[in-house]
Amino acid sequence: MTKWPVSDPQALAELLELHASARPTILDCTYGRGEVWGRLPIRRQVIKVDIQALPGLDLQADWLDLPRHYPRGSIDVLVWDPIHVADVGRSSQFYSRYVAEQNPVAGDSVAGEIHDWHCPGQAV
Ligand SMILES: C[S@@+](CC[C@H](N)C(=O)[O-])C[C@H]1O[C@@H](n2cnc3c(N)ncnc32)[C@H](O)[C@@H]1O
Repeated sequence: MTKWPVSDPQALAELLELHASARPTILDCTYGRGEVWGRLPIRRQVIKVDIQALPGLDLQADWLDLPRHYPRGSIDVLVWDPIHVADVGRSSQFYSRYVAEQNPVAGDSVAGEIHDWHCPGQAV
């Protein structure tokens, strides 16, 4: 493993090499502009999902609704890159890139964002 810190694309490439099966079905549920993928060739195969209507997506959806769109066991790798800070001001340079109007993430912590992911019945 490369010494950290590394770039997002390099980290993704290494994590996929270490943990994913050969030719995995990958879904990025917070695709945004897809910048975390950089120029990785595998980016073309990623199922691109975001809650915002953004160019190039395969699906506009809330990550909590994924089980309605994809059958259980159909996704090998789920990439989740949520915003990591709460209460981003509208004048912030990060607002348009990282905050969805549909899920503004308010309060002291973003920890509440992950609560439903641990529900066994909800997993994709
Ligand atoms: C930190 S940004 C992701 C940036 C992205 N990885 C990139 O490289 O451009 C967080 C993304 O999560 C999306 N998002 C926020 N809440 C969501 C939800 N409930 N379901 C799906 N996407 C959501 C936002 O629209 C935003 O694009």
